[in-house]
Amino acid sequence: MSAINYSEKIPNNVNLDEDRTLKRALEQWQPNFLGWWDDMGPDGSQNFDVYLRTAVSVDPQGWAQFGHVKMPDYRWGIFLNPAEADRKIHFGDHKGESAWQDVPGEYRANLRRIIVTQGDTEPASVEQQRHLGLTAPSQYDLRNLFQVNVEEGRHLWAMVYLLHKYFGRDGREEGEALLERRSGQQDNPRILQAFNEQTPDWLSFFMFTYFTDRDGKFQLCALAESSFDPLARTTKFMLTEEAHHMFVGESGVSRVINRTCQVMNELKTDDPKKLREAGVIDLPTIQRYLNFHFSVTIDLFGADESSNAATFYSTGLKGRFEEGKRTDDHQLRGQTYRVLQAKDGALVEKEVPMLNALNEVLRDDYIKDSVAGVERWNKVIEKAGIPFRLKTPHKAFHRNIGALAGVKVSPEGQVVSAAEWAARQDEWLPSATDRAFVQGLMGRVVEPGKFANWIAPPVMGINRQPVDFEYIRFA
Ligand SMILES: [Fe+2]
Ligand SMILES: [Fe+2]
Repeated sequence: MSAINYSEKIPNNVNLDEDRTLKRALEQWQPNFLGWWDDMGPDGSQNFDVYLRTAVSVDPQGWAQFGHVKMPDYRWGIFLNPAEADRKIHFGDHKGESAWQDVPGEYRANLRRIIVTQGDTEPASVEQQRHLGLTAPSQYDLRNLFQVNVEEGRHLWAMVYLLHKYFGRDGREEGEALLERRSGQQDNPRILQAFNEQTPDWLSFFMFTYFTDRDGKFQLCALAESSFDPLARTTKFMLTEEAHHMFVGESGVSRVINRTCQVMNELKTDDPKKLREAGVIDLPTIQRYLNFHFSVTIDLFGADESSNAATFYSTGLKGRFEEGKRTDDHQLRGQTYRVLQAKDGALVEKEVPMLNALNEVLRDDYIKDSVAGVERWNKVIEKAGIPFRLKTPHKAFHRNIGALAGVKVSPEGQVVSAAEWAARQDEWLPSATDRAFVQGLMGRVVEPGKFANWIAPPVMGINRQPVDFEYIRFA
């Protein structure tokens, strides 16, 4: 059931062989995908042999097999978690009915939109990260970047499979459009703004995989609750891959902090200028990067009040994070939730119907989860005996979506004037100088076991290999 068939052109565990039309459609999409990978995948790396994991089953234990693979030969395929017998819808107006094995006609447009929006983020992040390989701080990190990239490519496959199988001609057209939009491109950009931002350096990459891949986790968790069973099963397997992406981010930032703290202690200074001269990233700069990635990412959850969010929930398309673990009525009619708005120069709470606030509910769950990792980073600083703490900024800081869009708020949550914002922006967000400094640190370190000066080695290698393992064989 959970074994993956690798003898076919498109590896899968969905009996693709039994559906000739679907198989043909996907086999026509496959070369277009590879063409996109060739154009927009990791720059100049197509011939490297990369120590990658490939899914061999969808069992929680031992689904991965490791080996050196050229990225264009990665076996991208379609892997769904096994079906749960007799699964019932467990939230919304259809609660108690059987989960859908097909798309109900009346929800077709909304489901398609949800799948396309999720699908669009996957190739977008590969595009955002495509030049990072040229400045990798080590082979170990380069390998992790490529692992994340091939898996985002697979996530695109996961969404395109649903579009092709359940949405007919519209779905096939959406599948093509997913290969045509480009991150950051003026005339045909990716759908969501955070996926049009640049990821120009490795500190940005680690922040992105910590914060923005975690948005992916929360969106996927909400979709894993869906009444549309194929979507739930697809996203459940994607989540097992997502965990590694967030690990790359959390451990990456942690290693940057670790190295900075070492040098702070060696030089007995917290002067950013001296630390920069010593070639490490000062903690206030790390805080500004954190502020940027956190604020851009929480915008991804959408407007704080949203009738779409209410519809998606009530119709059973998208649940809450860990819907099954909650003890309320799973319908939420008549319940309320507090959202923030700015009024007369201050942030005030406003009570709104909970159903309309479900974007905010998911955002708040996300924030709780993000803060936990930041506290683990603080442990590294604390252990080094340095009196500095990283903090996630206030959720009203630097927002561009919803009621808080355009309101100028400090990281501490004070509404500030446009003039104060302009004067202090460089204290709160990475300045052009910060970005140029970090960019200037980026070099390319490729000897096994060697690391750039600004980052500490990891504690362990990948798949129990030594840290100085040859993760990449350069052609
Ligand atoms: Fe993904
Ligand atoms: Fe991811």
